[in-house]
Formats: sequence, structure tokens, C-alpha cells
Amino acid sequence: MKGFDMMNKQLKAVIFDLDGVITDTAEYHFIAWKQLAEELGITFDRTFNEQLKGVSRMESLERILALGGQTERYTAAEKEALAHKKNEHYKQLIARMTPNDLLPGILDLLRELKRENVKIGLASASKNAFTVIERLQIGEYFDTIVDAAKIKHSKPHPEIFLTAAKQLQVDPSACVGVEDAQAGVAAIQAANMFAIGVGDKEALKEADYIVETTAELTYDAIVRAFYRE
Ligand code: BG6
Ligand code: MG
Repeated sequence: MKGFDMMNKQLKAVIFDLDGVITDTAEYHFIAWKQLAEELGITFDRTFNEQLKGVSRMESLERILALGGQTERYTAAEKEALAHKKNEHYKQLIARMTPNDLLPGILDLLRELKRENVKIGLASASKNAFTVIERLQIGEYFDTIVDAAKIKHSKPHPEIFLTAAKQLQVDPSACVGVEDAQAGVAAIQAANMFAIGVGDKEALKEADYIVETTAELTYDAIVRAFYRE
């Protein structure tokens, strides 16, 4: 049965996370949250930041407030205002982005996937994803971009990856998901897709295949990893 499955296994789509995979906006989210947290008297480091990656704006705020023991201090409206403030700072940071901010190898990979007729999707939790894609001038490569505003469950829930696969009309088992976040890798696996982690090997150890940088994320590497499983 296993052999039969393997023979039928076919890579039909690659579904990308955005922040920290296609471009280094994970760093901008970190900078913007850190500034807000410091204004609230809360400090956090990069290890804690791993838990914020891939997580929605409000959920990130809740985690930061919980870290500082401030969950009960603010009303829902005040929390909205805090999240808005972080987002205004973040928007200033992304406003300066250009196609030069694509991470190494990503443009070549998008081109090669197109040449090989592999579909390309975006599954980012960010409501700023459309703006970032526009700044990077890579919209033409995507067969689908999931609208984060329509997603109910944050990663590690598989909803966003399953939505991307559905929009691409590809079975999840024929999809590879690419993520820099622990929550994202878990979401891909919960969607029954092959999970590639980009970044720290220890932080992403649950992934099916890990590369330390996007420069290693070539079409050949993806194909080899996918069919080896
Ligand atoms: C994810 C990021 O892609 O999007 C998170 O990894 C971020 O750090 C989330 O909180 C939501 O982004 P935004 O732009 O809607 O605040
Ligand atoms: Mg990410």
C-alpha cells in the first residue's frame, strides 16, 4: 500500500507563509511588538518571539500581555487600540520595502515553480499581506492568496492552509507548505501537507524537512525532500 501511495504521490502546489519566508517582515513584526511592549513595561526576547510568529495580531497582543501579567489591565477597546498602534508602526516599516527585500533564492524559486507548472499559494495570517506582496512586486506569481480577514482560526489550526489548497483545487497531500514559525509548521502538518521549515533547526524540529535559509530552498531540494518521504 505504501509503495502504491508513493507511486501516486505528486507535487502539485507549494503554499508559502509570507513573513519570515518570502521576506524578512518577521523582523519588522518583532521590532513593532517590542516597542509597544516596552511602552507597557514588558520586555521580551527572541526566544519568546518564536511563539508570536504565525500568530494573529490580537492573539500576539494577548500573549505579550500575559507574559507581563497584564491580561486583565485593559478593556477590549483598549486592546484594540494597542494592536492598532503596533500595526501603525509596522505599516511604517513595510512602506519602505522594495523588491530588493525578497529573501535570497525566493524569486528564482517562484519562477521555477511556474515553469514546472506547480501551483503557488500564499497562506499568511497577516492582514498586511496584500500590501507586502505589492511592495515586493510578486503578485503575478501567486495562483491564490488567502485573505487572512476571512480566516477564523489562527495557526496551528490548519484552516488557512486548507483554504489555500481548496482555492487552488489541489488535494492537501499534493501540497508542500513552507513556514518559519512553529505554529505554522504545526498548521501545515494538521492540514496533511508536507511541512518545510525555514530557520532554526531546533525551533522547527517538527518539520518534515528543514533549511536554515531560503537560499537552500531550491525547487530541486523541495522535490527531493517531498518524494523521499
Ligand atoms: C503573521 C506573522 O504572518 O501575521 C505574525 O508571523 C503576525 O507575527 C501575523 O502577528 C498577523 O499580522 P498582521 O499584519 O495582520 O498584524
Ligand atoms: Mg512567518
